[in-house]
Amino acid sequence: MSDRSSPAVTYGSYLRIDDLLALQQPRSTGPEHDELLFIVIHQVYELWFKQLLHEFDRVTDLLTTDDSHRTQHTLKRILTILKVMVAQLDILETMTPLEFQSFRARLEAASGFQSDQFRQLEFVLGAKTAAAIERFPEGSRARAALQRRYAEPTLWDAFLRYLAREGYPVPASQLSRDVAARVEPSPDVQAILVNLYRKDAKNAELCERLVDLDEGVQEWRYRHVKMVERTIGTKMGTGGSSGAEYLRNTVGRNLFPDLWEIRAHL
Ligand code: HEM
Repeated sequence: MSDRSSPAVTYGSYLRIDDLLALQQPRSTGPEHDELLFIVIHQVYELWFKQLLHEFDRVTDLLTTDDSHRTQHTLKRILTILKVMVAQLDILETMTPLEFQSFRARLEAASGFQSDQFRQLEFVLGAKTAAAIERFPEGSRARAALQRRYAEPTLWDAFLRYLAREGYPVPASQLSRDVAARVEPSPDVQAILVNLYRKDAKNAELCERLVDLDEGVQEWRYRHVKMVERTIGTKMGTGGSSGAEYLRNTVGRNLFPDLWEIRAHL
């Protein structure tokens, strides 16, 4: 039964459109034409980060309950979002170096480097550093979220535990590894995966989606650094890093090294 005392839900009220449209606040005087695009695109990314984190939580739950079918389904959604996120960089690449320069100084030390949701995604994917937590103030939402994810098993851990329940002899040392440490290559896990790829089409498909994910994240990193190179060249980042040079070092690091290692043995 509808509640007659409250106004009917509308598109605007449900989606909080007035609030949403008030969130883009350029800092340049004028303001400079391109600053709105810069703000909108970053806000859109933060929303996609939020959605991805929501979907990754679902994937972990589904793996934990051995629901491989719906795990695949959710991973497919994640990969589709990632494709859109990579494609969106094309829009920002329509902004020339001079157009960016027209408002860049107004960003001061602000940088995507400070995106806690991006760091949360890295944490879920196994790329954790305690230093990333320290950058956020005590008591902040960001710090609490990162602390929680730092202590939680990564997607790879959930996957290894799932494989063990599927009957694969995943070594106890892998099942009880330090979930805050980076995932290191394991010859034992690789031997399991080679066998799995040959005999277990269902789980081999799941592995391929994880490889898609790993490759997709690296694709975003590569496209982001090329965008940075064409927009600011060798200038330092607003976040204080060496800029493109720092970013180039983050490309090409595999998240799930065992899944790449086995290619040579299949
Ligand atoms: C003109 C556009 C952009 C430029 C010139 C740019 C530049 C940079 C630079 C130089 C860094 C290195 C850290 C620093 O010193 O600041 C960085 C990091 C980062 N940027 Fe961008 N960026 C742009 C757009 C974006 C967009 C649209 C996003 C989407 C959220 C984004 C997300 C990030 C993230 C997550 C990092 C941290 C990467 C890491 O530490 O691995 N950037 N950016």
